[in-house]
Parts: sequence; C-alpha cells; structure tokens
Amino acid sequence: MAYLHMASCLFCFVLIAGLMGSSASSTASPDSSGYLIGTGSYDITGPAADVNMMGYANPLQNAAGIHIRLRARTFIVAEKSSTNESIQNRIVFVNLDACMASQAVTNKVLQRLKNRYGDMYSEKNVAISGTHTHSGPGGYLQYVLYIITSMGFVRRSFDAIVDGIENSIIQAHDNLRPGSIFVNHGDLLDANINRSPSAYLNNPSKERALYQYNVDKQMTLLKFVDSEWGPVGAFNWFAVHGTSMSRDNKLISGDNKGVAARLMEDWYDNQLAEKGEWFIDSFDTADILSSVISKSDKRASSRFVRFSSASDGKRPEVIPRRVRSLFQGTSRPRFVAAFCQSNVGDTSPNVQGAVCLDTGIACDFNHSTCSGRSELCIGRGPAYPDDFASTTIIGDRQFKKAVQLFDGATKQLSGTIGYRQKHLDFSKLEVDLPSGEKVHTCPAAVGFSFAAGTTDGPGAFDFKQGDHQGNTFWRIVGAALKPPAKSQIKCQQPKPVLIDTGEMTKPYSWAPSILPIQILRVGQMVLLSVPAEFTTMAGRRLRDAVKETLIAESGGEFNKDTVVVIAGLTNAYSQYVTTYEEYEIQRYEGASTLYGPHTLSAYIQEFQKLAAALAKGEDVEEGPSPPLLLDKQLELLPPVVLDSTPSGSSFGDLIEDVPSNSSYTEGDIVKVKFWSACPRNDLFTESTFALVERLDNDENWVPAYDDDDLCLRFMWGRPFLKSPQSFATIRWEIPDRVVPGVYRIRHFGAAKHFFGSVRHFIGTTKSFVVY
Ligand SMILES: *[C@@H]1O[C@H](CO)[C@@H](O)[C@H](O)[C@H]1NC(C)=O
Ligand SMILES: *[C@@H]1O[C@H](CO)[C@@H](O)[C@H](O)[C@H]1NC(C)=O
Ligand SMILES: *[C@@H]1O[C@H](CO)[C@@H](O)[C@H](O)[C@H]1NC(C)=O
Repeated sequence: MAYLHMASCLFCFVLIAGLMGSSASSTASPDSSGYLIGTGSYDITGPAADVNMMGYANPLQNAAGIHIRLRARTFIVAEKSSTNESIQNRIVFVNLDACMASQAVTNKVLQRLKNRYGDMYSEKNVAISGTHTHSGPGGYLQYVLYIITSMGFVRRSFDAIVDGIENSIIQAHDNLRPGSIFVNHGDLLDANINRSPSAYLNNPSKERALYQYNVDKQMTLLKFVDSEWGPVGAFNWFAVHGTSMSRDNKLISGDNKGVAARLMEDWYDNQLAEKGEWFIDSFDTADILSSVISKSDKRASSRFVRFSSASDGKRPEVIPRRVRSLFQGTSRPRFVAAFCQSNVGDTSPNVQGAVCLDTGIACDFNHSTCSGRSELCIGRGPAYPDDFASTTIIGDRQFKKAVQLFDGATKQLSGTIGYRQKHLDFSKLEVDLPSGEKVHTCPAAVGFSFAAGTTDGPGAFDFKQGDHQGNTFWRIVGAALKPPAKSQIKCQQPKPVLIDTGEMTKPYSWAPSILPIQILRVGQMVLLSVPAEFTTMAGRRLRDAVKETLIAESGGEFNKDTVVVIAGLTNAYSQYVTTYEEYEIQRYEGASTLYGPHTLSAYIQEFQKLAAALAKGEDVEEGPSPPLLLDKQLELLPPVVLDSTPSGSSFGDLIEDVPSNSSYTEGDIVKVKFWSACPRNDLFTESTFALVERLDNDENWVPAYDDDDLCLRFMWGRPFLKSPQSFATIRWEIPDRVVPGVYRIRHFGAAKHFFGSVRHFIGTTKSFVVY
C-alpha cells in the first residue's frame, strides 16, 4: 500500500482502524442495518461511427471507434421494515457514462420500469445521472438546442442508453440482498481546477474566505457490502468536467471518470483473483459459453443469449466476448465502481491551466482569449497534448483516492430511506429572497458568451462560423430564431440574449421549462438530484441551505454529520447554474444559466421546500409534467446504405498485418488494419469489435484484451466521405505485466449487403510473440 510509508502515528492509527473496519465489514455476519442492496452494470456504448459526440458541439467530432466502452452503473437500496417483510422503501441511482441525463431517456426508462415492476419505481425514487463525458454519441436529448450538431435525434444512441439503463436496473433489482453501506470522504487536490476564476472572484469575499479552494476538492464515497459476498460496489461523487479528451477526439470514451471506474473494477476483480475467489484463466471458449448458459443464473447468461440465439443465424462461429465477462465464474455479483458527477459547472480536469496556442503564455484572465480570440486559448491536461494520457492520469487520481476512501470506510449508514421529487416550471418561478425582495425567473435564454465556449472546448455551438452550411437540421431550425421580447431582455439582464431558447418552439421546444428536482435519502446521506451543471459556489450554497433546513425541520433526525451531496446532470438537462454574482460576470457558465440571475435562488427555495417535506414526513404537491417530445423528433442522420470491399478482398481481410515471425515486448505498439464495415450495423453491445488473444498451454486461443481495455484502441474510418468501403485499425500498446506467449489480434464486424441483410465477419492477424 502506497500510503504505508507515511510515518504519522495518528495516520497509522486511522489506517489500522480503517483496515479493521473494512475486514470486519467484509466478514460481517448478516448485519442489522436492515438494508437490501443491489448493484448492476450494462454496456451503453451505442453507435461507434458517424454520430456526433455530445458535449463540445463540434460538428466535426463524429464517433469513429472506441477508446473504452460506456456503461450504465446502478445501485438500489431498499429498506426492510422490521414489522413487515415486504419492502417498504427503495431508491435507485444510475450513473451513466454519458454527457448528461436526458428528459426523453428518463421518461422512457420510467415507462419501461412501470411495465415491468408496477409502482415500485417511479420519477420519485429513481435518479439517472450523467458523468459528463464529452466523448459519447449524442442525439438522445429531446430539446432542439442539444441536438443541432447531431443533425437531430439519433434513435440508435437513445435506444442504447435506454436499454442499458433498464438492464442495469434489472440486474441491481435481481441482486438485492442483505448488506450494509459505509460512507467516507476525503480531499483530492490534483484532479480539478476552476476554469472561470474571474467569475468565482465576484462572489462576496466573506463567503470565499470560508473555503480554501475555488473548486470543491472533496470526494464522497459510498461502499456497498453484501452480507455474504463482501463488497459489491462503490459509488463516489467528485466535481470535475469530462473534458480530458479534447474536442478533436473521435473515439468513444468515458473520459476521466470512465477510466477511473474501469481501473477500480479491475483492481477489485484482481484482488479476488489473487485470493482465488474468482475464476479468470484457463478456459476454453466453448466450455465457458455452455457453462455460463446452463447456469440458472439468468443475469450471467443474458449476456450471451443474444449471440447463441441470433435469429438470422449469421453470427460467426466464434463469439466475440468482452474479456471482463470471463470474470463471471460464480454467482457472486460483479463488483461495480461508479465515478459520479457533482457541482461540475466551473471545474476543469485540465489542471495545467489555459494557455495560448500561439504564444504559449497564459490566456487573458477575464476573457480567456489570446490576442482577443477565444479559439486559441486551450486548457492543458497533465500530459498535454496527449489526450489519452491526460485522461488516464486524471482517471487514475480519482481511482486512487476512491480506493483509499473505500479501504478506510468505517462510518456505517443506518436509518430510514426517503425521497421527495417535484417538477417545476423554471420559466416563471416566484422567488422570495432572504432580503425580503420578491423576484422571478425568466424563460430560458443563452447569452453571447455561450457561443464562445470554454477553455476546455472553445467555440461550442459556434453559430458565427455558420455550420448551417453543412447541416440540414440547422437549416430547418434556423428559421425559428426569434428576437427576444423587451420583458425577456429585461428579465435576463445583465445577460445579452443570443438565442431566446425558452420562447422558441419550432420545430419543437428548444430548451426545457419544466424540470425535476429530487432528494434521495439513505440514513444520514442525502443526495440532491439537479438537472444542471451547478458551479462550485452555487453547489455549496445549495448544499448548505438544504442541510440547514433538514436540521431545523427534523427535530434531531439530521445533524451536522449529515452528508449532503449534489448529483449533477441528473434526470434532465438544462445547462448551467451560477450564483447571482457569477451571473453578473457572464462567462460561459453565466451565459448558459438559462432562467436569469435568480436561477440559483429559485433552486434553493424549492429544494428547501422538498427538504422540509422530507424532514417532516410530509408529501409535496404535484407539479406540472414535462413534455413528451419523443414523437416529434426529427432524425436526419442517414442510415448505412451499403458496405463493400475492393475487389479481391473480403470483409476482415488484412490491409496491414503484423510481419511474419515478429516479436514484441512491454511498451511496444502493435498496429494492424482490416477491411471493415460500418460499426453502426451491429453495436456489439456487451461484446467487442477487437480482441487480443493468447495461445494457452493447451493450444487454445483465449481472450486477453478487448475494446474496453485502456491498452487497446479500435479505430474506424472510410477512405473518403460517403465511401461504402471502410477499414478498422486496431492499436495494441502492450501493457506492463503482460503474460509472455504467442498472441494474435482479431476484428469482429458486421457488414450491410445489398437488400439490407447484415452479415457478420471476423478478421485474424498472423500470430506473433510477446516476450
Ligand atoms: C405488509 O405490507 C404489504 C404492503 O404494504 C401489505 O400488503 C401486507 O398486508 C403487509 N403484511 C403484514 C403482515 O402486515
Ligand atoms: C479583470 O476584471 C476585473 C474587473 O473588471 C479587473 O478589476 C481586473 O483588473 C481584471 N484582471 C485582469 C488580469 O485583467
Ligand atoms: C519464420 O520462422 C519459421 C520457423 O522458424 C521459418 O521456417 C520461416 O522461414 C520464418 N519466416 C520468415 C519470413 O522469416
């Protein structure tokens, strides 16, 4: 353990206490916390080609392969009443490797849950939250402004996310078993900075003096321990943007939080493997497949059924599988680690700060410009300009902190489960300020700085450069641009209105008015689901106000130790929320605070009402329902028409193979290229497009690395735009501690032929030696 060398006696004591706590918890007899806990996880990668990525709104940033896969990770906590065995209360939290939650997705998931489980799960007790990766397929939101660069709605993206959430909730539901929950928190200093410090500085100096940093450094972690199996999950919240991958990245990625989750799940699985509690090696493809399918464990087999029962019978004889599913040797639930988003608004993972591309010096402090231009001012990650390395470093820092908190988590949650939720029309809320003044919110609008973007990705939604030239969707909606009314201009001041999104309804609503707010409670832990990106100080004010209310209204049930955490980008999306003072400065975050200068005050007022209702055990009245816009969506991304190869070549043939008799070692890069087909034909969900296999002692090829591994990149491309031909490049950077032996690389794909039939194919390289 890396921190053992720290020779502080106090620290030793804490460490020993922590170790005793964690070993005690994993061997604990069925405990008396009374909770049932379940975790689940499912692939939501979606279309790995052609679809514009959500986040930077860069029309040129279309997916073209996979860095790591995206997942929906879920925990459910249910409370067993002491007098009645039937479960009384439960909450569901889903963390998505996606840029944000979407009202359309939330609506659809809730509908599916209702069909499956009746009233057990509803908008009241289900939270669906996005990690804010900027490297996932877009087109899954229902409001116009959020689907302009994806050329409208993308059904394939939407379905992958909805299906994955549903599957991860089903897993967690089926896994519900007695267990306990521990909470821990600590500071992580080197993984985030403030990207709009000039706005932060406009907050009152007295308030700023209460805090050491201009971003929140605290990570809060929940550790889920099954009474029989030991730890089954860890979810933590830490505020940092998913912008370690830049706006030029084309590979689908969970960004820093996705990497952290991947590292922590592997860390835990490896621990089990070392203890011999997990089955990871020496298997034969056919054996594994039949043993898994014959298991009564429905959850495990469901991963494979799709392949074995493919109705067209055209699946390849060898089934590409995700290497991680090979860990599924027992009925033990898979360990799920999730890195969730918090008050992310003004944070950046680009910790070296924003520097001018032309001069190499720091950008203008107040405007983030270089010689007056924003596009030259770029935030630098720790390994700039290597996005992949920066992503891994920021992910690794979160992972290491999470492990430390996980190992030291001794504070057990106990007490009741509760939740309150309400929809509100943010375009016209009356707000009573503490000063006694009555103010109100405004219809949504974005200001001019919105078009300038941020130092993480300058020029987001860059209308000025007129990407409507190549964007049919933009042309259709462009006609809807309308000048704001006088009252709106006044209400939004000092924001100069660029697009009056809240009052634009053609072809359908441009921005939300009705949004959900929600509080989930497990004992002394309280989660605030906000449908936006709160800035650091906005988040602090909201947390403090809610905590104050809980303590004041509950008669002793809540106290200063109550943990209040913001779950950002949850259940729906409405851009940013700054403080009133930050709004005055009108940086990108202020320009993107939709409902005017009093947006935060409105949130605080309404959350305090929810908190009071929760504390006093009262109901909240029903609010308005958010619109269902799914049926109105325009989808303009053309489908795959046809895949082809040059004459004399077939799908899966090598364009660049490894040389004969070649050999490699740790740190070397093996790069091979196949004739391929569009990855949109089959998403290979819970499977892989690329596989590194090793020859074992019995002369069987066994999977070693797949397209969800950090060392393996699956890159796809066409020789020119609209060409039916395409190729896949697989890049394997041989990792440390690789098992020496004979290896080969395979590519799995699906090609669309004339008359629309899709046929699967495999390509396989020559074998090579790794020593
Ligand atoms: C337990 O609760 C369920 C659901 O509320 C109810 O239908 C059932 O009658 C209760 N059983 C007992 C023994 O009270
Ligand atoms: C930023 O703006 C503030 C307020 O206008 C001003 O006082 C300050 O000098 C500016 N800082 C820089 C570095 O330009
Ligand atoms: C590869 O190795 C084999 C066996 O040692 C040998 O027969 C063959 O000629 C080698 N091929 C090349 C291209 O070096």
